[in-house]
Amino acid sequence: MITVIGSINMDLVVGTNHVPDKGETTLGTSFSTFTGGKGANQAVAAARLGGEVQMIGACGTDEYGKIALASLKQENIKTDHLFLFPDETTGIASIIVSDADNRIIVVPGANNRLTPKEIDEMKDEIIKSKMVVLQLEIPSETVHSILKLCNEHHIPVVLNPAPVNHFKQKFIDIATYLTPNESECKSIFGEDIEKSLERYPNKLIVTLGEKGARFYNGEEHVFINGFKTKAVDTTGAGDTFNGSLAYSLTEGKNLEEAVKFANASASLAVEKKGAQTGMPSLEQVLSRLQTKK
Ligand code: RIB
Ligand code: NA
Repeated sequence: MITVIGSINMDLVVGTNHVPDKGETTLGTSFSTFTGGKGANQAVAAARLGGEVQMIGACGTDEYGKIALASLKQENIKTDHLFLFPDETTGIASIIVSDADNRIIVVPGANNRLTPKEIDEMKDEIIKSKMVVLQLEIPSETVHSILKLCNEHHIPVVLNPAPVNHFKQKFIDIATYLTPNESECKSIFGEDIEKSLERYPNKLIVTLGEKGARFYNGEEHVFINGFKTKAVDTTGAGDTFNGSLAYSLTEGKNLEEAVKFANASASLAVEKKGAQTGMPSLEQVLSRLQTKK
């Protein structure tokens, strides 16, 4: 079982050809709501591939919470361990998409109520996992308590350090895998990516957007090329990468194979609007892996 612990949001997505400046009003081109949240997205990515996934997170009992819960169930994700807070709003993300790029403001709401106390209640469930997947849209002390628990019980953890301003240096040594993008990597480890990779062989995996991803295997730098794709909406590309990486690793693939697989998966996800809509099935990923990069 892969256990994803993290945020559950409703994404309120506005499309526009022009991102307004301060004090400016502009007319957008579309509005849609999608289920999202880095945690839920990573859970969906792994589940669509056929992974056995449970989600631990928190949402409100409001309309968005009901929709989020139903959609996780629909994806065959175990939701018995979600915490519902009737006095709290479900997390939302206000997202502006322009030219396939996005700007996101997250209002955590109930996600902030997932505290070390809730984790303690779920301890027995968590330590049964094959792998745990984490991001940083829940309180940092919660992330820390999960990392410590998993470390004690030798459960491998993928920590996706986003949003990076919630990252704590003390997470580094107790996480098994860290998956920042280039700018997150620089903000955690400093400007020299090469040097950081060499310091954390087979732990630090830096995603490079359409260029792919890289890590250091202890002997040499490994570059995994990206796949050519027509990006429509890159929201959730990183989440697809992380969920797919966890899936592939728990299927027994080595790191290089798993990173390749995760890359192919993310390249498919960006072809559709919304974070979860384009997340692929195992078949789709395997067929993309056959195509030229
Ligand atoms: O990574 C994309 C996600 O970030 C969105 O789904 C949004 O909810 C924010 O959490
Ligand atoms: Na997408």
